[in-house]
Amino acid sequence: MTKQHAILVGVGGYLPPRILTNDELATRVDTSDAWITERTGIRQRHIAGPEDSCVAMATKAAAAALADAGATAADVDAIIVGTSTPDEAFPATAVRVQAALGVTAGFAFDLAAACSGFVYALSVADAMIRAGQARGVLVIGAEVYSRILDWTDRGTCVLFGDGAGAVFLRAEHSGVGPQTRGILSTHIHADGRHGDILYVDGAVGRPDRPGHLRMLGREVFRHAVGRLSEVVGEALAANGLQQSDIDWLVPHQANLRIIDGIGKKLGMADSHVVKTVDRHANTSAASIPLALAEAWHDGRIRRGDLVLMEALGGGLTWGAALVRI
Ligand code: COA
Repeated sequence: MTKQHAILVGVGGYLPPRILTNDELATRVDTSDAWITERTGIRQRHIAGPEDSCVAMATKAAAAALADAGATAADVDAIIVGTSTPDEAFPATAVRVQAALGVTAGFAFDLAAACSGFVYALSVADAMIRAGQARGVLVIGAEVYSRILDWTDRGTCVLFGDGAGAVFLRAEHSGVGPQTRGILSTHIHADGRHGDILYVDGAVGRPDRPGHLRMLGREVFRHAVGRLSEVVGEALAANGLQQSDIDWLVPHQANLRIIDGIGKKLGMADSHVVKTVDRHANTSAASIPLALAEAWHDGRIRRGDLVLMEALGGGLTWGAALVRI
């Protein structure tokens, strides 16, 4: 028996050229390179310039993913952008990207799940491909957190960066089972009771109050380790797989301590955990596809490898995806 699967055939990323180091940040707020590095593993972040809108960065990442797949605009019939920092309330970022790429078929929409945005978008894209509603889907994570940070709050402004990453998924008929290529399964969750531990106190479209990110860091940290461990177990069990079957962990890049904690729980060799947090900081929905792009293009991740992605973010939202490349 064969079934329609979402095969990951192209990956792309874009980072704004401007780099902000911890030392430079320390000239603006009362912090230090030593504090930031020790608590988070972050050494620098990329910051959007005036030309790096959410749409512009998403478009560049998407174009790179399409080129990597050897695909063109004519192969795309759906675009889903995970973002919490769109340039406009509407049209959706995804619709602007559609126009910029010259895609004329299908549909396009944004999905807001904060740092879980990419895993959520991957889950929706996978379901639509399995249901036969789309055949060529661009899944993009694009964020401009520098525009919602309170640059006087040292507890949050040191943690985030800007960027975009994208994958191109193609529908293919293939056999069923853990050796099947493509997205094996996705597992997404939310618990709105914890909405106030990580949120933005304003909204796009409110020029009087565009909003700043607010966070109870310790609370988020506590939830992250527990929830992520649970969802990773859920993903493995759903596919009858063991921890030792995972070739690569491509986690959301929020904090090195969280990443290393999950890697240890899974018994992963450190060299098989993809880490970009030191250079990118937390780029929210863009962080997983940006990390994936790095390990995909430098040849670490290869065809046949089993990749586990996981993320937790504001909402709370969290999730995991298992993908056979
Ligand atoms: N530089 C220097 N000192 C800082 C600082 C900074 N950038 N930010 C906070 N501090 C200070 C605090 O003011 C506090 O000082 P006090 O003890 O005098 O009050 C002290 O450091 C400890 O603060 P605390 O917030 O308890 O630190 P922490 O050990 O919990 O580390 C985080 C803070 C944010 C690094 C940590 O909680 C974390 O990583 N949380 C998860 C955040 C995350 O990943 N969010 C995104 C999820 S998608």
